[in-house]
Amino acid sequence: MTSLIECQDIWKIYRVGDVEVQALRGLSLTIEQGEFVAIMGSSGSGKSTLMNILGCLDQPTKGRYQLNGIEVGQLRPDQLAEIRNQRIGFVFQSFNLIPRTSALENAQLPLFYRGLSLKEQRAQAAEAIRRVGLTGWEHHFPTQLSGGQQQRVAIARALVTSPSLLLADEPTGNLDTQSSQEIMAILEGLNREGITVILVTHEVDVAAYASREIIIKDGQVLSDRATEPRPQSVGV
Ligand SMILES: Nc1ncnc2c1ncn2[C@@H]1O[C@H](COP(=O)(O)OP(=O)(O)OP(=O)(O)O)[C@@H](O)[C@H]1O
Ligand SMILES: [Mg+2]
Repeated sequence: MTSLIECQDIWKIYRVGDVEVQALRGLSLTIEQGEFVAIMGSSGSGKSTLMNILGCLDQPTKGRYQLNGIEVGQLRPDQLAEIRNQRIGFVFQSFNLIPRTSALENAQLPLFYRGLSLKEQRAQAAEAIRRVGLTGWEHHFPTQLSGGQQQRVAIARALVTSPSLLLADEPTGNLDTQSSQEIMAILEGLNREGITVILVTHEVDVAAYASREIIIKDGQVLSDRATEPRPQSVGV
C-alpha cells in the first residue's frame, strides 16, 4: 500500500545574497494515513521548512517527496495549488484569519475558491464551525473572539474542504494552557475520525497528544518514536 507521505533524502537550501542556508539536509521520513505526529526540535532546526514542503507550499531543492504516490517535486505551481486545495488543511500559530470578516465567512473562504454556491458554502462552513464547538459565534469578527476561539475558526477553515491531511505549525504557540488543551482535543478528535494530523510544537504537553514524536535537528531526523497512548480526554 502507498504511504501518505514519503520523503527520501530531502534537502532544502535557501540562498539569500551570498549566504546559503541548508535548512533540510538529507531528511527521510514516511508517514501513513491516519497517523498523529508531533514534530519537535530547537528553533531553526528546519521544522517549518519541512511543514511547508509536506504541505506543498514549497518544494525541496533535492530529494523525493511523494504524497499519496504523487511526485510533488515535479509539479507545476497550479498543480501544487490544486493538491493543497483538495487534500490539505493548514493551521498556523498566528491564526491568519481575515480581519473584519465573520467567523462563518472565514470558514467559507476555501469553498468560495471551489466555486460552490453561496448556500452550500454557508451550510458546509456552519458544519465546520459546529465541529470545532463554535455554534452561536458564526457572526463574530476575529477581534471579538479569544485566541483559542480564533484558532478554532482557523481549524474550521482548514476542515471545510474535508482534507485528508491537517498540518499545524505551532497551533498552540500563542495560547494559554486551557485553550491549548481545547485545541489539542479538537485535533485529537479529528485524528480519531481518520484525518492524518502533523503538528509542530515546542511543548511536551502538546506533543503528548500525538502517537508518534519526531525530533528534527540541523535539518535531519534525530529521533522518531511511538509515544505512550494518553488516557482518552474527557468531555470535549
Ligand atoms: N525563506 C527563507 N529564506 C532564507 N532562509 C530561511 C527561510 N526560511 C527559513 N530559513 C532558514 O532555514 C533554517 C530553518 O528554518 P525553519 O523556519 O524551518 O526553522 P524552525 O525549526 O521552524 O524554527 P522555529 O522553531 O524558530 O519556528 C533557519 O536557519 C532559517 O533562518
Ligand atoms: Mg518554525
